[in-house]
Amino acid sequence: MREKVVPSVAAMTEPEAVAEWADLVHQVLDANTAYHRDDAPVLSDAEYDRLKRRLAELEAAFPGIERAMKMTSPTKLVGAAPADGFGKIAHRVRMLSLENAFAAEEVTDFDDRVRKFLGHTGGLSYTAEPKIDGLSLSLRYEGGDLIHAATRGDGEVGENVTINALTIADIPQALTSAPDVLEVRGEVYMSHADFAALNARATAAGDKTFANPRNAAAGSLRQLDASVTASRPLRFFAYAWGDLSAPLASTQFEAIQHLRALGFQTNPLTVLCDGPEAMLAHYRQIETQRATLGYDIDGVVYKVNDLTLQARLGFRSSTPRWAIAHKFPAELAWTELLGIDIQVGRTGALSPVARLKPVTVGGVVVSNATLHNEDYIAGRDSKGEDIRGGKDIRVGDWVQVYRAGDVIPKVADVDLTRRDPAAEPFVFPQRCPECGSEAHREEGDSVRRCTGGLICPAQAVERLKHFVSRSAFDIEGLGAKQVEMFFRDATLPVKTPADVFTLAARDAASPLQKLKNWDGFGETSVTKLFAAIEAKRSIPLDRLIFSLGIRHIGETSSTLLARHYGGWDRLIKTIDASHNYTGPEWEELTAIDGIGEVSARALVDALHSYNAERAEVDRLMKFLTILPIKAAATESPVAGKTVVFTGTLEKMTRAEAKARAEALGAKVAGSVSAKTDLLIAGPGAGSKAKDAERLGVRMIDEDAWLALIGG
Ligand code: IVH
Repeated sequence: MREKVVPSVAAMTEPEAVAEWADLVHQVLDANTAYHRDDAPVLSDAEYDRLKRRLAELEAAFPGIERAMKMTSPTKLVGAAPADGFGKIAHRVRMLSLENAFAAEEVTDFDDRVRKFLGHTGGLSYTAEPKIDGLSLSLRYEGGDLIHAATRGDGEVGENVTINALTIADIPQALTSAPDVLEVRGEVYMSHADFAALNARATAAGDKTFANPRNAAAGSLRQLDASVTASRPLRFFAYAWGDLSAPLASTQFEAIQHLRALGFQTNPLTVLCDGPEAMLAHYRQIETQRATLGYDIDGVVYKVNDLTLQARLGFRSSTPRWAIAHKFPAELAWTELLGIDIQVGRTGALSPVARLKPVTVGGVVVSNATLHNEDYIAGRDSKGEDIRGGKDIRVGDWVQVYRAGDVIPKVADVDLTRRDPAAEPFVFPQRCPECGSEAHREEGDSVRRCTGGLICPAQAVERLKHFVSRSAFDIEGLGAKQVEMFFRDATLPVKTPADVFTLAARDAASPLQKLKNWDGFGETSVTKLFAAIEAKRSIPLDRLIFSLGIRHIGETSSTLLARHYGGWDRLIKTIDASHNYTGPEWEELTAIDGIGEVSARALVDALHSYNAERAEVDRLMKFLTILPIKAAATESPVAGKTVVFTGTLEKMTRAEAKARAEALGAKVAGSVSAKTDLLIAGPGAGSKAKDAERLGVRMIDEDAWLALIGG
């Protein structure tokens, strides 16, 4: 598979970097939500990783970028917030993600980084174990009893799936001689054999099948009806821990053995390695065994073995410094391209989809793949540079398809030697195939979009699906299938969000054709559906904003807007006053931490009163009561304080000191100014100590600092 040619960061100007960064941030945030919350990934793991690395590269080369854009990069976030329906559990110790490595040299770099951080000159030992492709789960035991089980959620708050976890045979309900408090973390997964049997049963019953074992495991664990989970054969490998009242051991390897002794399944391919060479050898070994393991793995995880060193290494904002996931390359297959369809999405984007002669890629039959956009088909990236060596893609071509994990497959390459000489280049439509409106491509945008707005039935129906989706109004009994049906129905049509809330009244008023008599409905399901709709008349402001499906306004931006404005009226007044993108209201909007100019413009354009669609939103508001959203809360002894280190530190390297301070919410500055709250001065402190004295900045030594932050 060829990589897309991306311009080198070193050759970029700051505005170019900012533009690319903003675009990537949106892609990554949307992908996070799709993957973690909706179990419906939109990017391959490989593509997702590539985007995150590119973000990290841009951030390293342009360190002011986050501040300039007033937002936290998703390189520092894990996952998405939990879905409603389950109770929520705040993790006492955050559930983190792992940094990824692909090439062998990234593994040696990891070892170098670890040793440098610790100021450690000798060799270090690491554990190496398979990275299980399932979903992570945290099990809390108190006094030996399982008291709750929680999914990762956004890393801080997960879903309470205790009842479901109790149905999994590998999860002990009670432990003997365990620490009083013990949180065991690991992966829930489904074996290949169980997955095949489950899908065979589903096919026989005429039910939907799962695309792969990970989806099946996630769908089975996150069942509101635990008896469904009980009927699905799930398994669990323990590989980590969270909150603990007493240490499990002094090394990672022994801690895992301890978990095994307590009755957990731990992975038999976990070994101890004395450095990168042995780690890479184990990676190759596991790779050869991968196909015969009987369950999906997507790489090998390396962890520093000594737990004291792990503690010193600590965490970046979302990943530990002491571990890394060495991923396997994406899986590939060749097949014939039978046709190219154009789908029209919620924001009008015309997305080309490859219809493929079905082919098995990594155990999954693939018959569709994304082709991204017209440039991708033509063999160019959005900046006009060649991809795939400039080879275009034509109907009838032999194409290379890949998927990594459980995601939408992609077309990576084309075999020109097998091309029919009569094959014609693909002509991308200039009009929307659904409504015939002009399809316009903005300067600098790789996507052509239908300009029909709600006139376009494809956009209208996709917006409705988004409106009722899990992260938006989340109306039980009104999923994508029902939306399609109501949208096209002549007797009880639902064409706009407001129509959802008039459905029950219209049904009551209609003398014939009652919904309860329709195919697929009945008295009970209709009563339930109407009750579910009624219940959602009260909705928190952030969800409401998100549900409108405005381009660039995802969940993160919706929450920021809701927090800032507190109510719908203030928000809409701001939007109306901002029509020229000027004035105090506009200034206030774009000054919100995390709302960039692109999102602000999209919001104003979508909801300003000159927009025909605004009338629809005003109509919707008549049916709703807006609930306030909860305020965020975080604190630590040095949170928000600006600190400066100077002189020699004796207990840790400078990198370690800085990392710990930042982990506690402090800002670490390089020089002393009036804004400095605290100077930590070791022996040999010079001009910075003098500056601190002159400015009256509090000065302490390393020991006092350690005492302040709790050791
Ligand atoms: S350790 C603090 N070990 O991979 C890090 N994670 O991409 C704790 N995963 O969220 C995770 N197998 O869901 C660890 N052997 C393993 C794993 C593993 C699978 C998952 C886990 C994690 C994700 C990160």
